[in-house]
Parts: sequence; C-alpha cells; structure tokens
Amino acid sequence: MASTAGKVIKCRAAVSWEAGKPLVMEEVEVAPPQAMEVRLKILYTSLCHTDVYFWEAKGQTPVFPRIFGHEAGGIVESVGEGVTELAPGDHVLPIFTGECRDCAHCKSEESNMCDLLRINTDRGVMIHDGKSRFSIKGKPIYHFLGTSTFSEYTVVHVGCVAKINPLAPLDKVCVVSCGISTGFGATVNVAKPPKGSTVAIFGLGAVGLAAAEGARASGASRIIGVDVNPKRFEAAKNFGCTEFVNPMDYDKPPQEVIAEMTNGGVDRSVECTGNINAMISAFECVHDGWGVAVLVGVPHKEAEFKTHPMNFLNERTLKGTFFGNYKPRSDIPSVVEKYMNKELELEKFITHSVPFSEINKAFDLMLKGEGLRCIIRMEG
Ligand SMILES: NC(=O)c1ccc[n+]([C@@H]2O[C@H](COP(=O)([O-])OP(=O)(O)OC[C@H]3O[C@@H](n4cnc5c(N)ncnc54)[C@H](O)[C@@H]3O)[C@@H](O)[C@H]2O)c1
Ligand SMILES: [Zn+2]
Ligand SMILES: [Zn+2]
Repeated sequence: MASTAGKVIKCRAAVSWEAGKPLVMEEVEVAPPQAMEVRLKILYTSLCHTDVYFWEAKGQTPVFPRIFGHEAGGIVESVGEGVTELAPGDHVLPIFTGECRDCAHCKSEESNMCDLLRINTDRGVMIHDGKSRFSIKGKPIYHFLGTSTFSEYTVVHVGCVAKINPLAPLDKVCVVSCGISTGFGATVNVAKPPKGSTVAIFGLGAVGLAAAEGARASGASRIIGVDVNPKRFEAAKNFGCTEFVNPMDYDKPPQEVIAEMTNGGVDRSVECTGNINAMISAFECVHDGWGVAVLVGVPHKEAEFKTHPMNFLNERTLKGTFFGNYKPRSDIPSVVEKYMNKELELEKFITHSVPFSEINKAFDLMLKGEGLRCIIRMEG
C-alpha cells in the first residue's frame, strides 16, 4: 500500500465553479476510498464533448462546483474495503458507466446498462454514502460521471474501472476510456454493417471517426461522412470516409441528399453529433427494408425525436447505445489489446497535447472544432 493509503490527499484539480467559465486550478482534498471504491492517480486525461456540454450546462442540469473529466488513464493508489480484484499499482482506465457484475444487465450478454452503475450525468456524489470525496476547505466539490478525472487523484467505484495491460502507454490508451470505444463499438457491436455495405457517419469528431474506423474494419465499401464543419473532411479520409456531405451546402435535408447518392438510402448510419436534427436525418437516411440507424450523441435535455411512424413500418430500425455496448470491466482490456496488436490505431485521434495547467486550451480547441482529441498531461 502507498504511504498515502487511508489518508486524505491534497492535490491539484481543475475546478469548474460556474457554467461556461474557465476551469480554475485549485488545491483539493481527496478523501480515501470507501467500500468498493478505489483512489486513482490520473496520469493522462482528455476532453470529450460530453464534458463540454455539462460544463456549458445549456439544456442540461447544472451541478456546480464540479470536477469534470471522464476520458483518462491512471494507476491505482489505494483501494477501499471489499475491493479484491484491483491493487495499488494496477494500470487502469476509469469508465463513465459501470459493471457491477451482479444485476440482470451485467448478466445479460446484450446489455451494458448496469442497474447500479449506469451513466448518470446529474449525480455529483458517490453511491456508497451520497457524499463527495472532493472538498476545498471542508466544502464539497461535486463529481462528474463518477470519474472526475480533471484531478491528480480521484475516487471511483470499482465497477467503473477497467484493469488493462501495464505495458500499454497510458498517454495513448486513455482515449479508449470513452470516445474511441464508444464510436468503434457503436458500429461493430450495434450497427454491425455487413461486408460491402454503405454506411453514413454523422459528426466527424473523435467519436464519429472511431465509428468510421469501425465501418472500415467491418468491410464497408462506402463510408459517407456528414458534418457541418468542412474542416473535418480532410482528416476523415484517414479514417475510411470515402465521400462527404456538408448539410450547409444544400437547401434540402441531408437524408434526401444521401438517398440520392445511394439509390434510396444507406445500409447503416451512426450519429455522433448530439444534435437532434442530425439524429432524425441519421434515421431517415437509412434504406427502407433493412436500414439500421444508431444514435450515440448526447442530446439536449428537452430534445424530442420526431419522425413519421411510416419510417418504421417501412422496416427501418432505430437504436441507441452508450459506450458502444461494451461492458467496461469485461470488454475494455481487449480493446486496449487491439491497440497493442496494431489492429486499432489510436495516434491518429490524438491531435493536441497540453500540460494540466493549460487545460482551458483543450476546451477552446473543442469549442472551435479544431483537432480531435487533446491529451492533458497531469504532470505539467
Ligand atoms: N453515447 C455515448 O456513450 C457517448 C460517449 C461519448 C460521447 N458521446 C457524444 O458523442 C458526440 C460526439 O462527441 P465528440 O467528442 O466526437 O464531439 P466533437 O465535438 O469532437 O464532434 C462532433 C461533430 O459533430 C458535428 N456536428 C454538430 N452538429 C451537426 C449536425 N447538425 N450535422 C452534422 N454534423 C454536426 C460537429 O461539427 C463536430 O465535428 C457528443 O454528442 C458526445 O456527447 C456519446
Ligand atoms: Zn466521453
Ligand atoms: Zn450491474
């Protein structure tokens, strides 16, 4: 056990005090892990659009002050009571949705929606005692997605931690902890495009490009990338996209443009934007008779999906998924192995890197739609 085990750790964290305001580097106190919890030393974290939505808190429940961050890699510092499968020194990825291994969902081969630990964007405390493990001068700072990785140390439920190969470089595989697994899994585990099929990907950020990569790995012959930001198109060619549609270039909806390009619609579509209109287009652009659309983007709280029921009667299928349908503890170690075996390239998703002290730059880049993933180095 580390000499810090059982003690409060004081460390740096980037605290979000108010919606949309730059994060502030603070010294926080991180309490020791309680039953079924582990305390992690975060080494690398990156920014996903889900952090930005809840930081902006437009159309989402505001919970402040809060420590954001959920895509990360680190090392176990100490473990709480009852934790047997993780030990200090283990290399891990914290995951925003968990796997208790006991509930009906965890026992089902089809679901990753654990009853106990499924994603909860509004909860700011630990499940064990309803309290936060972070404080500043005795005042609680709330958690985000049960991970709060914008801190040098964080406390996470053991069911939300994937133990990975210690040889895997954490500055690369940290992106597997959310975006890449989400997009890749949405295609290979949920949309399941047959070989030779045509796939449309809405939103060409890291999640969408990982979805495109999944389509290529599945043997899709045409991959149509759809984005309102044309800066995304050039890079998307490296992820298998063969054609592009910018909805801003047309005065008809993208589903009509795609239907014309594909003789009636694509075989599969994967939506990775969070925009409700893109979700509707992603569904309506699939071919009748067999088309399957998969929603991945996190919508506005009040968003409503509106489409004519005839679209379903005409044998189109609509699905959605969190975390690419992967079970975090059981499946994620093997996604990391795919990288180790050179079956999955991660470097091309990583376009920027900043020291922790400059974390607000990562937010600026995402807001400007520049780059894909920005790695935040905790030692800096
Ligand atoms: N379901 C899950 O488990 C899960 C996990 C991670 C992220 N997400 C969500 O996935 C989405 C993508 O995340 P990201 O980190 O890649 O974000 P990103 O901002 O890097 O990429 C989103 C892309 O969508 C494009 N876009 C926005 N509106 C559009 C529209 N109407 N039509 C076409 N393109 C449009 C943007 O220009 C951008 O390029 C977000 O909504 C995020 O919250 C979901
Ligand atoms: Zn994410
Ligand atoms: Zn469970």
